[in-house]
Amino acid sequence: MEETVGYSMPVSMPEPEAKPERYHSEPADRSRLAEPLTFAFSGRTAPNRFMKAAMTEQLCTFDFHHPEDNGIPTKNIERCYERWSRGGIGLILSGNVMVFPTQLESMGDPVIPRDAPVSGPRFNGFAAVARAGKAHGSLMVAQVSHPGRLCVFQESPVSASDVAVANDGKGDGIYKYKPPHPATQEEIREIIDAFAHAAEYLAKAGWDGIELHGAHGFLLAQFLSPKTNKRTDEYGGSLENRMRFVLEIGREIRKRTPPNFILGIKINSTEFQDTGFLTSEARELCRQLENNRFDFVELSGGSYEKVIMTHIRESTKKREAFFLEFADQIVPGLTKTKVYVTGGLRTVGGMVRALDTVDGVGLGRPLCEEWHLCKDILEGKVDGSIVTGIDPGDFWLFLMAGNRQMRLVGMGAEPAQLWRKEVVDKLKAEYKDWAANKSTEKELQRYRAIDAAYIPQGKL
Ligand SMILES: Cc1cc2nc3c(=O)[nH]c(=O)nc-3n(C[C@H](O)[C@H](O)[C@H](O)COP(=O)(O)O)c2cc1C
Repeated sequence: MEETVGYSMPVSMPEPEAKPERYHSEPADRSRLAEPLTFAFSGRTAPNRFMKAAMTEQLCTFDFHHPEDNGIPTKNIERCYERWSRGGIGLILSGNVMVFPTQLESMGDPVIPRDAPVSGPRFNGFAAVARAGKAHGSLMVAQVSHPGRLCVFQESPVSASDVAVANDGKGDGIYKYKPPHPATQEEIREIIDAFAHAAEYLAKAGWDGIELHGAHGFLLAQFLSPKTNKRTDEYGGSLENRMRFVLEIGREIRKRTPPNFILGIKINSTEFQDTGFLTSEARELCRQLENNRFDFVELSGGSYEKVIMTHIRESTKKREAFFLEFADQIVPGLTKTKVYVTGGLRTVGGMVRALDTVDGVGLGRPLCEEWHLCKDILEGKVDGSIVTGIDPGDFWLFLMAGNRQMRLVGMGAEPAQLWRKEVVDKLKAEYKDWAANKSTEKELQRYRAIDAAYIPQGKL
């Protein structure tokens, strides 16, 4: 596997006496977080209730001029999962893995092309990442995704319909998304095949399962939401029709993978948009997912048009997790499919209370700051995560910071301490500089995504 080229550390080393502040937790019985969780259909068991949420690593090969070589895992991404594997996480999700080398969410995404053979550097890379993540007993599940209209490289990206992204999109307008075209029947068949092929490939490479990315406005969510799906064929209109694409993908995956392969999906419990996917629809979708033998559903929310990575309602603040009040409505419809909730959880008290409603808790940003947080919680060392210096409402900055953390750990270095003001100030300055100078289309061809401002393409 290749190594990344050298990369400057974001800050000088910290002064030893400084201590981070932590979120204060209500008293709670943390042993509930240590309970194993068995999935009804695959029969597999996660050793505890923690899930590392999907976080795009952008640590794979990328070359504009040779897309067939895009998305091969590097030693750097393997190191990240080696480190998370030591962190006491029951189920580790990868960042989003793509299924077409030219239809990426970001440069450096892992890719499993439809014709990828089960041998050679790509296959060995995926196998090495799975081995690294499983080394200490976690389940390794790959999040597989298609960006649809959120693809930055396509002149006319594929989507459910020709509905363009309403605002400037990711990173406050850094990426300009092009208007999409409605998927043809042929494209729909190809995409279903691509997801199923990816699942088969992952199973052969030693992964425990797959999670479909059906949230945050990516292609599957574009089919689910009436805001982006205006089709008049059997894939549009009624909820039954809008769900068809996801359910067909799920069925094809079940057909082509071993019975003990875990099948899950991340979906939006709400979009907070008037004409978007509704919680009542999410509830019905979950019932159908259970009928189609999905092991778990991860509840999230929002999209690139309406990012919900902080509390936007007073009522959700009390429960810490952003989407629990939507989970309340969705979970009672299920008897076999397990439910995780992701977003906002920072304290043991909040996590344990969430288990009154759902089966497991997903953590994203906290695990970029403290890679061993779950282990520390289970061992009673801490009750809450570190308060970072990044405003929780500034999701794009955290996206860059998270990528930076993975890049550092991938190089074998320590993650930066995001609770330090000087670290955050430096990140902010770099982000601003990148947005101002490096985000033109021409520069995007030479430089990679937000975090990768200083790494010329082709060097990973
Ligand atoms: C650096 C970073 C990368 C992310 N990449 C993905 C991704 O690839 N797929 C996905 O579904 N969500 C992604 N997310 C969203 C997280 O999975 C999670 O839903 C969100 O951060 C809320 O959880 P938290 O409050 O615990 O961070 C990403 C978040 C961050 C911070």
